[in-house]
Amino acid sequence: MLASAASGTRTAADPSDTSDLSEPHDPHDPPEPSVPLRPVPLSPTLAVNEALARKRGAGASVLPLGFGEAGIPIHPALVRELSAAADRGAYGPVAGSAALRTAAAGYWERRGLPTDPDLVVAGPGSKALLFGLLAALGGDVVVPAPSWVTYAAQTELAGALPIRVATPPGEGGVPNPALLADAVVRARAVGRTVRAVVLTLPDNPTGTLARPETVARVCAAARDLDLVIICDEIYRDLVHDPAREVASAARYAPERTVVTTALSKQLAAGGWRIGVARLPHGPFGRALRASLVGIGSEIWSSPPAPMQHAAAYAFREPPELVEHVARSRRLHAAVATAVADRFRDAGALVRPPEAAFYVYPDLEPLRERLRAAHGVRTGADLTALLLDRYGVGVLPGSVFGDDPAALRMRVAPSLLYGDTDARRLAALDSADPAALPWIAGALDRLSAVLADVRARDRAPSAV
Ligand SMILES: Cc1ncc(COP(=O)(O)O)c(C=O)c1O
Repeated sequence: MLASAASGTRTAADPSDTSDLSEPHDPHDPPEPSVPLRPVPLSPTLAVNEALARKRGAGASVLPLGFGEAGIPIHPALVRELSAAADRGAYGPVAGSAALRTAAAGYWERRGLPTDPDLVVAGPGSKALLFGLLAALGGDVVVPAPSWVTYAAQTELAGALPIRVATPPGEGGVPNPALLADAVVRARAVGRTVRAVVLTLPDNPTGTLARPETVARVCAAARDLDLVIICDEIYRDLVHDPAREVASAARYAPERTVVTTALSKQLAAGGWRIGVARLPHGPFGRALRASLVGIGSEIWSSPPAPMQHAAAYAFREPPELVEHVARSRRLHAAVATAVADRFRDAGALVRPPEAAFYVYPDLEPLRERLRAAHGVRTGADLTALLLDRYGVGVLPGSVFGDDPAALRMRVAPSLLYGDTDARRLAALDSADPAALPWIAGALDRLSAVLADVRARDRAPSAV
């Protein structure tokens, strides 16, 4: 929603736009363009972060539970590797260096997915690669409901439509296989071109992992429907129980599955912007690779060279990094479980978190109280109340494509680990991180907020 700038009364396209919109237009200035812009709102995960930053800047104390950042320090070995490559200023191959592609192939081989380095494409984050894939495929995309905000947004940016299919109960990240065929057949019957389905194993926003049987059924349906499967495994190494099997779609439908991952989550290097995609073997995979590389060549040219060097080191999985990932996994499990417990104690429905740093509580049992006390009718009403009154930043399920009326929200506790590296390291080292004073304090505040929110007919107390 952008009004003509020439009037001098622009309207912000999103609430996080902090530019001064009230600046009057000086009649001596040349006329500004009156070109209507395509409204592309800031990704909600980034927007909640910025809203919290503004509150914090205004002196308010906040509880940042909205942003999917891993919240742990970069391992010194990665810093060392990155520094060693800081003088690499050349562009390099679009698909990434042979060293990085070979290291990524080894990473996948160790997870039971034999990989040809020539079918690995690196890019500036897996997000950019996902967009390249969707643009290359060029059709509508089945996305689980709920699912990570970006799949639907990127599908629309690529000029197609997301087709949302509900996930099976307790298994986030995959469309219910019993509903998938029907949704695709109906879309095709009205003339839509449906080309792909996205899976997230394990899942953001629910923090759960689909069972191998379910993944196998989705893959069988995708084969029947001739869909390409994009299997986003960015949280693969953060399944809380390391003995639990992550069944990649590439195991069941290797001829049509693209797997993506990155260093952003297990090694907390999201700001480094480096990711990799594993394309299927065979003629289709090679053609898709050519398309993806072509798109990369026109948008990012090559992944950043120093990052590639550090990523090649990381994907070789030296023991020091394996140990670091194991410690971060234990930290995420402990704090996410503690947060889930606080919601359960407050009367919410919540599944035990299984992976990553997400909890997805449902406040449906409190609906009547929330309506009577605060006029809350939707998930967005609830999260607005939490943000505005209590400084608690979480995201409503609706931004992930969940039912807007549902009182579900995504809670991401990883920014509670500490506001200094010393605290984050202490959290990583602790056998009981939820008991550390700064984390326990945040958890107690969360409990106090939930208690206050559910209390009927009361003015808010100072929480
Ligand atoms: C499911 C999922 N995929 C991909 C990404 C982004 O990955 P990258 O940092 O590699 O672009 C995120 C980050 O929030 C995510 O949650």
